[in-house]
Amino acid sequence: MVRPLLTVEDSPERLARVVAERVTAAAREDAAGRGAFHWALAGGSTPEALYRVLAGADVARRLPWSRMHAWFGDERCVPPDHPDSNYRMARAALLDHVPLPAEQVHRMAGEAPPERAAAAYADELGAALPARDGVPQLDLVLLGLGPDGHVASLFPGTTGLDAAEPATAVHVPRLDAWRLTLTPPVINAARRVWLLASGPGKADIVHAALGEPGGEPLPVQRLAPRGEWRWFLDAAAAARVERAGAR
Ligand code: 6PG
Repeated sequence: MVRPLLTVEDSPERLARVVAERVTAAAREDAAGRGAFHWALAGGSTPEALYRVLAGADVARRLPWSRMHAWFGDERCVPPDHPDSNYRMARAALLDHVPLPAEQVHRMAGEAPPERAAAAYADELGAALPARDGVPQLDLVLLGLGPDGHVASLFPGTTGLDAAEPATAVHVPRLDAWRLTLTPPVINAARRVWLLASGPGKADIVHAALGEPGGEPLPVQRLAPRGEWRWFLDAAAAARVERAGAR
């Protein structure tokens, strides 16, 4: 298991601000040095708090929006205006409030037949991104962490965990729902993979995920990022982490 670097902040609010500053620094560095910053957004309430900070005037004015591309780590197979849509959430929290060119927002087509939408997204990733060992390389993948150890829509026991293509469609029995998701190869190939977890409800899964797999590894434990692999936690989510591991 590839162990992540840990950053622990006192509160969810402080966590969101610290990560917003890190995103700003990474985007500015890549926009200047590479000409573009391609980042994949995560769904969920923890990433949403980050997006609201990024949309704030004091931060947004420092981001190189014209050179940024927003991708998605996963999407629910629903229309883009559906309450469950990650794209809808990202628009409300961030994309509708910043000058990111519409053609640089790469939405997963949740309204389309899942396999066709996943194949189209994989093609779009391949066409837009440089490849690392044949795999499209994003500059940053943001992830939330589910209480069952899922990241993106890589849920325990689902086919996405073993998918080779950059994006895939998965049926999640526990939810009785289809999802679109980036797969481990494209997450592992990213230059930075940052996981966000906050709140006491994540303390147990964070502790388990940082430990050695008991039986079947958790989805998050299946990842082996080759770039920067960092978890951003608030104190509540890190309550069961031996502090020596935090740096
Ligand atoms: C989704 C997300 C999912 C999420 C985690 C954490 O579409 O639901 O991509 O992977 O990031 O479930 O969500 P919370 O931060 O809301 O706990």
